[in-house]
Amino acid sequence: MTGKRILLIVGGGIAAYKSLDLVRRLRERGMSVRAVLTQAGAEFVTPLSLASLTGQEVHQELFSLTAEARMGHIELSRDADLVVIAPATADLLAKAAQGLANDLASTLLLATDKRVLAAPSMNLRMWLHPATRRNVETLRGDGMLFVGPGDGAMACGEFGPGRMSEPLEIVAAVEAALKGDTTIPLPGAKPRPLAGRRVIVTSGPTHEPIDPVRYIANRSSGKQGHAIAEAAAQAGAEVVLVSGPVTVPDPAGVKTVHVETAREMLQAVEAALPADVYVGAAAVADWRVGSEVVEKLKKGPSGPPSLGLVENPDILATVARHAKRPGLVVGFAAETQKVIDHAQAKLMRKACDLIVANDVSPATGVMGGDANTVHLVSKAGVETWPTLPKPEVAQKLIAHLAALIHAKEGGA
Ligand code: C5P
Repeated sequence: MTGKRILLIVGGGIAAYKSLDLVRRLRERGMSVRAVLTQAGAEFVTPLSLASLTGQEVHQELFSLTAEARMGHIELSRDADLVVIAPATADLLAKAAQGLANDLASTLLLATDKRVLAAPSMNLRMWLHPATRRNVETLRGDGMLFVGPGDGAMACGEFGPGRMSEPLEIVAAVEAALKGDTTIPLPGAKPRPLAGRRVIVTSGPTHEPIDPVRYIANRSSGKQGHAIAEAAAQAGAEVVLVSGPVTVPDPAGVKTVHVETAREMLQAVEAALPADVYVGAAAVADWRVGSEVVEKLKKGPSGPPSLGLVENPDILATVARHAKRPGLVVGFAAETQKVIDHAQAKLMRKACDLIVANDVSPATGVMGGDANTVHLVSKAGVETWPTLPKPEVAQKLIAHLAALIHAKEGGA
């Protein structure tokens, strides 16, 4: 859970003192905590205690010009992996259930795109009141998560449900919530079947230097690989795109690592592991010049130089046999003849789960072109798709991979 960011809303209840310990426990586990203190919360704990324990500014006002200039309330509501309300008072829950936004905490709860985990804390009659029952029911239906409350002696002398869960119980609920996708899509937004997954895509050619000015390359444009990376990001995945030299722009929402040679590409791919899916769409050069030539080669009486080619590492085969092998390893096969036969052989040789095979004979215009006709070759058989624009091939491929992952997990 290292590096996860929690937005903690501290409401006004006697249990607020436990929230100080909660901050410590979360930080011990490598999470960062940004605190919002309600006006009532500030009656129980001081902003200074929270600031000292979180190591960050404590946010209290909706209409604070200075705080708003540093970090607007919308940004504050989204710049976290999870929102936690502890203590979640009857008043905060009622406001959230109604969608009120008349102070900083309630506004953040309405504006956030992240899941919210509430640790209720209140007198047992308040917890058992039909109004609170209705509000909790509504909030559960809206997707709010709850931890507690527990039963026990209350600060007010009564005994029953309403005690805020202990900090370690809240930490366990936070960790459980963070294992899933904590982003809430906009109502009506497209489904995100790869949410919470990590995908590595390679794209483009590699350039293998002959001397400081010349290199061996191929005609790959990167259009197909880049479209796949973008489609994976749109499907909710965290995407690392390792790209050889191309002229197409870096796709939106993707971390792009630029490399030149096959060996650099392998290094960048290994550094990006582990992942759930690997798609090797790059046209990796099979060979490179054996010796490093530091000076430019000159024409001379001894005739053309011999390049002394040596084989490059096979990135796809390395990933497919890696200790950190992704659950789904997909290769491409660019062929000019016997497309499906060669793809089937490649599937076995490179130990991958799927080969996307296409005919790159010059007459097809696939290399560098905008459309592609692909055959999906796996142990299950061959599926041929109609000729489609490369972005559509990408979207269809990502939907196919998401279905494979879910089928695998469903059957496991
Ligand atoms: O053997 P061939 O080059 O046709 O295989 C193509 C597939 O293997 C593509 O997915 C490509 O990215 C990958 N490959 C690789 N490393 C190489 C050569 C190919 O990852 N050195």
